[in-house]
Amino acid sequence: MSQHTPLKRLTAPEIRARKGGAPIVSLTSYHAHTAAIADKYVDFLLVGDSLGMVMHGYETTLPVPLDLMIMHGRAVARGARRALVVVDMPFGSYEESPAQAFRNAARVIKETECGAIKLEGGIRMAETIKFLTERGIPVMAHIGLTPQAINAFGGFKTQGREKAQWAAIEADAVAVAEAGAFAVVVEAVAEPLAAKITKMIDIPTIGIGASAACDGQILVMEDMLGLSPRVPKFVKEFGKVAQAIDGAIKSYADDVRERRFPEPRNTYDMKD
Ligand code: KIV
Repeated sequence: MSQHTPLKRLTAPEIRARKGGAPIVSLTSYHAHTAAIADKYVDFLLVGDSLGMVMHGYETTLPVPLDLMIMHGRAVARGARRALVVVDMPFGSYEESPAQAFRNAARVIKETECGAIKLEGGIRMAETIKFLTERGIPVMAHIGLTPQAINAFGGFKTQGREKAQWAAIEADAVAVAEAGAFAVVVEAVAEPLAAKITKMIDIPTIGIGASAACDGQILVMEDMLGLSPRVPKFVKEFGKVAQAIDGAIKSYADDVRERRFPEPRNTYDMKD
């Protein structure tokens, strides 16, 4: 019998049970290597469709295909052993009908082995969230600024700055919670509204640019690492990775130009 005890992954119900408790820590991740590093520190990793902008050079998340999400989702699930892995449903893969959403979400779950999916939208997606959760697919919702609706919003703008906008966002939060979502991302929502929503619903709110009033936070990993060329003002940068990469590549180029090549070895053994 194997002596190896597999590490238990966090589950969607365990994240849901953290409502009002210790803050939930999360980051986006798109590859196995960064997933393995972040896995030690985060409760869940989101394979966000932001990968279209961060990794593939698109202007928005709209062109991202389902197959690309599955490929990156699989990589992250291979890299992470402990954290819950959540994969974003890309634009066009779930909005048409609950049946379309189920078909594509089931593919994501089967092919990536992630533990949950995320989709954007409040009231308008409530029926779909109920349909998926009743069929065994844990759903994380996403309200406030929903980047897949960027053309309708007219740009990346903070939501709920005017009190007149609050009722619609509050109704979205209540609708996704009642439909069975296990958590909800609240993006770019003014602090008093984020605080009000967090008190109103019984599932964790995961803020991104939505203040410390939420039950947890998510950031795009490349943004907080200081790797992204442009980051929103609310992001705290915890590293200067772009600078470190620049310095390392410059040193490498200098070495090659000066013919400072590594000593050849007889084997291809790895360093410890
Ligand atoms: O796609 C993404 O990375 C996201 C997060 C910003 C929440 O949806």
